[in-house]
Amino acid sequence: MKEELLRLEKVSKSFTFGLFKKRTIRAVKEVSFSIGYGEIFSLVGESGSGKSTIGKIILRLEKPDKGEVFFEGKGIYSLGKEYTKQVSAIFQDPRNSLNPGMKVKQIVEEPLLVHGVENRKEEVIKALEKAGLGEEFLERKPENLSGGQRQRVAIARAIVLKPKLIVADEPTSSLDMSYRAGILDLFLRLREEGISTLLITHDLRAVERIAHRVGVLYKGKLVEMGKVQEVLKNPKHPYTQYLLETMPVRHPSQRKREFKDYSQGEEESPCPFFPMCAYRLKECEKEVKEVSIDGRLVSCNLY
Ligand SMILES: Nc1ncnc2c1ncn2[C@@H]1O[C@H](COP(=O)(O)OP(=O)(O)O)[C@@H](O)[C@H]1O
Ligand SMILES: [Mg+2]
Repeated sequence: MKEELLRLEKVSKSFTFGLFKKRTIRAVKEVSFSIGYGEIFSLVGESGSGKSTIGKIILRLEKPDKGEVFFEGKGIYSLGKEYTKQVSAIFQDPRNSLNPGMKVKQIVEEPLLVHGVENRKEEVIKALEKAGLGEEFLERKPENLSGGQRQRVAIARAIVLKPKLIVADEPTSSLDMSYRAGILDLFLRLREEGISTLLITHDLRAVERIAHRVGVLYKGKLVEMGKVQEVLKNPKHPYTQYLLETMPVRHPSQRKREFKDYSQGEEESPCPFFPMCAYRLKECEKEVKEVSIDGRLVSCNLY
């Protein structure tokens, strides 16, 4: 299907750690979704829900235990170095992702060198311009830039090879409020050039501002997925409702519902939200159904 750029099919990933007492965390549980051409798809969920692991799996920085990722219909491990040209990454803190010893022009040029591209100066200037920075930045170093400018350099570097997809993992979390909207709006402009974005964030306002569709993750499981307008205005899954209600509010009295743990020491249930769910049913202990409501996916037995 032409509209589909990237597709995850039942992707799972566990991590085992601890030297003596081994523990296993199921970071990602059978996650499936797709990203269309020119689409901004967002993944939301609290810290530890598996967002970054999914981003790393797409970037081939982590290998799934089960399931597969397809790019333009082909398994990503069947694609060579070409794949790294088509899919690039932007991370949370540009202070860590940009080499402090290099000048902006070298930072942005590096991917072109790696892939043996010619006319590099021209491409570097074009990429900087698309990221909202002029030629005067070429000779500067990251330490002399603001947080917002540094993230723009990271974006210029990410787009210099003209990728089809950008995986942006919390791209605005380390930035002052005043820079956030400008950086987010850049993804909208890149979209006009046909570049899709996976926006990984815990900031629902960022999702509301630029994303088309959103997937809500909880403990590694995709609990709800659909159009941003629909999911944020009328959340169906009890966890999505909880997430929206507990969004940072100006005053605690504006908070509608407090977090409550309903668990009674049960084993892990198929629904990760079961222990916290105010609407839980007996059958939720055994299985959880995935239903489609007007094109929206909800993983919940209430529907
Ligand atoms: N390399 C790793 N080794 C062990 N555990 C990991 C590793 N990477 C991630 N995890 C665990 O997997 C879970 C999901 O992590 P992550 O994908 O970073 O979540 P998020 O980005 O949503 O905060 C967390 O419990 C985290 O501690
Ligand atoms: Mg993360």
